[in-house]
Formats: sequence, structure tokens, C-alpha cells
Amino acid sequence: MNFPMPKRIAPASAIEGAITLPGDKSISHRYAMLAAIASGVTRISNYSTGADCHSTLGCVRALGIEVEGSGPEFAIHGRGLDGLRQPAGDLDAGNSGSTIRMLSGILAGQPFRSRIFGDESLSRRPMQRIMAPLAQMGAAIGAREGKFPPLTIVGTELRTIDYVLPMASAQVKTCVLFAGLFAEGKTSVAEPVRSRDHTEIALREFGAELAVERQKITVTGRPKLAARELDVPSDLSSAAFFIAAALMTPGSRLSIAGVGLNPTRSALLDFLVGMGAKIRIPNIESRNGELVGEIVVEYSPLRGGEIAGGLAAALIDEIPVLAVLGTATEEGLRVKDAAELRIKETDRIQTVVENLRRMGVSAEESADGFFVPGRQKLRAAELESWGDHRIAMAFAVAALRADGESAINGAEAASVSFPEFWDTLAAVAK
Ligand code: S3P
Repeated sequence: MNFPMPKRIAPASAIEGAITLPGDKSISHRYAMLAAIASGVTRISNYSTGADCHSTLGCVRALGIEVEGSGPEFAIHGRGLDGLRQPAGDLDAGNSGSTIRMLSGILAGQPFRSRIFGDESLSRRPMQRIMAPLAQMGAAIGAREGKFPPLTIVGTELRTIDYVLPMASAQVKTCVLFAGLFAEGKTSVAEPVRSRDHTEIALREFGAELAVERQKITVTGRPKLAARELDVPSDLSSAAFFIAAALMTPGSRLSIAGVGLNPTRSALLDFLVGMGAKIRIPNIESRNGELVGEIVVEYSPLRGGEIAGGLAAALIDEIPVLAVLGTATEEGLRVKDAAELRIKETDRIQTVVENLRRMGVSAEESADGFFVPGRQKLRAAELESWGDHRIAMAFAVAALRADGESAINGAEAASVSFPEFWDTLAAVAK
């Protein structure tokens, strides 16, 4: 995955074409984990090609599950709720917060001890948020300095809980619901704002009993999960980079097929349309309980706007590229209530603001967000990914609008979620 040289990006005069994108990262993780503990062979098509989702498959294999295929189609030979085997060595979550946090819910319910670790970035990300509820359910979890990976999980017979999530996090919600599958009785999670609900949809697809009442989700433990045929929609968070590039570049028109449009994710499109974006969804259908459709986007002058409260949680992964888009708006983009950005793959408030400044934009940083003034000219610059996939891709979009050729160091980080990103970009940037 090493690019010996920085990636050079020349300005584009339009973004044009019809593209397809790899499968949704969030949905792929959930399908792979649930397939492992369902009975029978689950066939998944359009599984994410990103390294993160392959970390999940690696862990699933290490837990004694046969995974056939080299992608994007896989057949996962599930062995039922009690079929996982103690891994011979440590489980490697790579760069993936979703893998370590969600899989820990399953590991906590096993009759064995396991250890799960990650790369340098993951080793700095907080794990108390999953350790607290899992400890309440009866699992013993050790962590470096009491809060960082590697995690040592001593699985046990879990107790049910009614957990009130202290933060908006679909990963933590999923961790508790997955652990609840192994506890006798009903486990519930109440969330402060509604986060992505792919877990709830996937659990129902696999046959679990689930009740959703406003922002409280209750799962019944010890279900019989049955293997399924599943098709993963393309990732809206990956589409976001191309949508932003097209919106910013005069003369652009782009169509993106088969994108996941789950309402807990598509706040992105509503936000953009609210600022004046010309975005159409010419067709939409439901697949495995998830909405999927085509997105057509054209260059559009945008007013600018504010992301705060529940919207900050809903757009959390898209904020880096929205910051770049903010430079092309009339009034700029303000982001508040997004302190979670500081504990992503990098501190994304800092890394976004630093790269914008390198391009000559006077962005203002605050504790829980930033302000990016509108009507900015972007200067060609030497940019960094700091090993963060979304920072690499967001600033590739910025580089398309710069006044000359930019360079991005660490561009290979894009492979964490989107290995085809650079080729797709080259195909549509005219
Ligand atoms: C994810 C949830 C979000 C998001 C991440 C994927 C998921 O993280 O940022 O990229 O698939 O559940 P948090 O749960 O930390 O908010």
C-alpha cells in the first residue's frame, strides 16, 4: 500500500461521467460479523473493497469462520451463535474503529479470552465507551492505560442491560446490541440522537427480534440467526467526495449508481440541497431493508450553512469534504458540536484546518468545530493525509480547484475505505 511518491493532482475544469463506487463500509462490517454468527452460508455481493472491511474479514477468519472469495463477492460460512473458536493469535483490527468496537460486543459473549489490537492511529482511539457497557454486562476487559487498544476481552455469560448512550455513536450502539445477542433476555440501548441504523436493519434481515421505539432499540438475546443473500449498496460517504467535487466545479455533471440512501445517512443530501445544490435521485428502491438509488449532481452555486447538534452527528464522516466545499460557498461553512471529530482516525478539526491554511484559506478552529469562510481561492500546496483516508480524499477534491498542481503526502491512506478512489477521480476529472 505504499506510495513512494506524493500524489500529484492538477486542477480540473469539470467533473463528468457516470460512476459506480465500492460497497458501503458500515454495512459491510455488520453483514460480515452477523454472517459469522448466523447459521449457514451468507453470500454478500459488493462487499466494501476498503482495508477496514478486510480487517473485519481477517478477524472473522481468525475466529474459525470460513470466508470464501477474494471480493467484492464473499461467502461466509456461519457457525451459529455458539460456533466461534478461540483465535490462535491476536486479532488485528488494522485502522478500523468499527472492527474493534463492534466485534468486541461479540467477543464479550464468547466462552474464551481474546486480544484485539490495531495500528498506530487506532491504538490512540478511546475504548472506554465500549468497555463501560460491556463491563456492566459482565465481561472483563483490559486495555492499555485502561482505555486504549490492545483490548484483552475475557468473554463470559453476559447479563442484559438497559444502556443510555452518553454520546452519539453507532459503533457503541452496535457493540451493545451485538453483546445483547448473547445475553438471555432483552437488552436495550437509548441514544441521545439517532445514529445510523444499519445494525437494526441488518439484525432484522438475519432474523433477530428487535423493537425500535423513538431512540430506544431493544434486542432479544439468543436468537436463531439465519444466513442470507445480501447486496451491499455503494457507499454514500465515498460518493460525498465526488458530489462535492462536482458541486464546486463549473460545468460538472455526474451520475453515481446504486448508492445507499438510508435516511440516517442521507442528511448529507438534504443539507446540500438546502444550500442550493442541484441533486436528483431519478430512481430509488429497497434492498435488504436499505434504500438504494442513483444520484445525479450538477455544478451549483451554494449559499453556505451551519452544521450543529444532531446534524453534526449525522454528517460526521462527511465534514472534512464539506469543509473543502465550504470554501466555494457564498457565506462559508460553520461546524459546531462536532468534538467527536477530534477522536477519529486523526484529529479532523486540526487536520482539516491545517491543510486549508496550507492552501491559503483563513479557517478558524474552535474546540468543537471550525469556520471556513466562503468565496476563497485555493492555492496549490503540499498537503498531508496524516494517514487518514478521509483527509487524503477531501484534499484531493480541494486540489482539483487549486490554481496549480498540488501534492498529497500519504495519499495511499485512501485505501482504508476506497482503494479505487484515485482511478475513479482520474476518470471523471476533465
Ligand atoms: C460508524 C459510525 C461512526 C462513523 C464511522 C462508522 C459505523 O463512528 O464515524 O465511520 O459504521 O457505525 P462513531 O460510532 O464513533 O460515531
